[in-house]
Amino acid sequence: MGADALRQELTGEGGTPLLADPVPPMSQPPASPNLMETLVALCKRRGFVFPSSEIYGGINGFFDYGPLGAELKKNIRDCWWNDMVRRRDDIVGIESSIIMHPKVWEASGHVAGFTDPLVDCKVCKQRYRADQLFFAPVVVGARLTEFSGEKTTVSEGVSVTVPVEQATLDANIIGYVSALESERTHEELLEKALLLKRKLGVQGQLAPLVIKDMTEAGADQIEFIPSPGTGEPGSLTPPRSFNMMFQTNVGAMSDASSVAYLRPETAQGMFADFKNVVDTGRVKLPFGIAQIGKSFRNEITPRNFIFRSREFEQMEMEYFVHEDADWAKCHREWIDWCKDWLRSIGLSDSHLSEYEHPREKLAFYSKGTTDIMFRYPFGVQELWGIAARGNYDLQQHAKHSGKPMEMFDEATKKKFVPHVIEPAVGVDRIFLAVLCAAHAEEDVTDDKGGTEKRTVLRLSPRIAPVKVAVLPLLKNKPELVARAQELHRRLKRKYAVFYDEGGAIGRRYRRQDEIGTPWCVTIDFETIEKDGSFTLRERDSMQQRRIQEAELFALLEEKVY
Ligand code: GAP
Repeated sequence: MGADALRQELTGEGGTPLLADPVPPMSQPPASPNLMETLVALCKRRGFVFPSSEIYGGINGFFDYGPLGAELKKNIRDCWWNDMVRRRDDIVGIESSIIMHPKVWEASGHVAGFTDPLVDCKVCKQRYRADQLFFAPVVVGARLTEFSGEKTTVSEGVSVTVPVEQATLDANIIGYVSALESERTHEELLEKALLLKRKLGVQGQLAPLVIKDMTEAGADQIEFIPSPGTGEPGSLTPPRSFNMMFQTNVGAMSDASSVAYLRPETAQGMFADFKNVVDTGRVKLPFGIAQIGKSFRNEITPRNFIFRSREFEQMEMEYFVHEDADWAKCHREWIDWCKDWLRSIGLSDSHLSEYEHPREKLAFYSKGTTDIMFRYPFGVQELWGIAARGNYDLQQHAKHSGKPMEMFDEATKKKFVPHVIEPAVGVDRIFLAVLCAAHAEEDVTDDKGGTEKRTVLRLSPRIAPVKVAVLPLLKNKPELVARAQELHRRLKRKYAVFYDEGGAIGRRYRRQDEIGTPWCVTIDFETIEKDGSFTLRERDSMQQRRIQEAELFALLEEKVY
């Protein structure tokens, strides 16, 4: 490699220089690398999330939500639905079918273009997503002093000839390294580069790595890039497109005419039902159609627990505006709304950021897309995408179905096809985000004055799977148990509550801390012998105070909405 090429590599032109701050496609360093393992274990132990079909060895990319997980997920959905649909006058909700007419997916462009780039290893038969497989040429360079010639000067009649020095860069690519996207991609590539240099016994300084993903690999580079499966170069195929839609057949015949798809997004339901809603819903622009439901994508590499799975749940809303409306203002308002909503369920700004898609990467019809990013333990990743899609989707369905998708403008007496702003988020990604943000381990003083570890999920009361745990101080005192059960009965008419009479009170508190229960109430002798008040213990502060039943209901009314 010549000096110019090396300089280009060093300045990172066309690639990602090492130690830069690339958000996305590469993610930032992890907030807490071990947190994922801790959370996966906690989810399994306490019944939040299990691998699907675990008794048969599981199935990659599919998960089951256990009793607490199902509650937490339902609370996330309910909060979104209440805030997005019920508490607004301009948005209506629908529930469309998962399997739709296959023409829907032709019109939307999914049949032709819902693909991810795929790379195969011909030796180990592993498949990789090309944009998640990173590589870098290992460049070793030395600053050399060359003599570019001689210079002769004449001084006082004496001619003196001196050599002329010129500094040059001499650098060679000694091989390639590769690594899959992870919280350690940068470090892993650097370690592998140093190892290669040592193995080959090459002297000189290692140039900063310029990291690219496999979609950017030149045809002349592919044969030198090692497969992550074998560690050896020469077995990776060039990237090719892989359609991620799950296919099925509808009806008894299994031929081309019966092919249908499990929906890869809920959004097309809103576009396909647009006319039905306009004709029946008495809606006026601007208005939105919202939906929550399952989506399916045959992801090449499902990973990071429930972050990227093959069956997941989406909450999407299509907000239709007049074609002349200020779409940029509306887009910004929806980004802000989504961030406010995330704050309302307990995610703080320290975890959130925005990523605006570069103009040149947008689809031709798109006016702009901004993702709300969350700092997961494995890096900063997309949580919620807010896209300004123009009127492309409605136009496409009008073209493919032959049914007009226009509205009538009373002011101009003209027909037009509305434009749309689309906030689209995955329930499972929010689920993981709230667990990451809520999890803490801390040293606390135990009953005997010693120190013990407590694990706590500081979940917002809005989404906590259990709102209150009701605990009689002693289980062998019938009057305490009867009063506790009576309170439990009254609370559970409206809230998810838990009754627990087993074990020392401190242990019972810890069990609730670990699942994120915001409050415990303990029925003690004062409750039955004095004024009926009981102890309210707060999860986050661990403070205790006496409270009357009416006050408890008022507290719940205020915090659980
Ligand atoms: N209708 C637009 C749309 O579906 P998307 O960015 O592909 O856009 C929207 O998906 C959201 O759905 C993402 O921001 C993410 O929260 C969630 N999502 C997408 N693919 C997912 C997967 N494989 N597993 C879990 N959640 C996913």
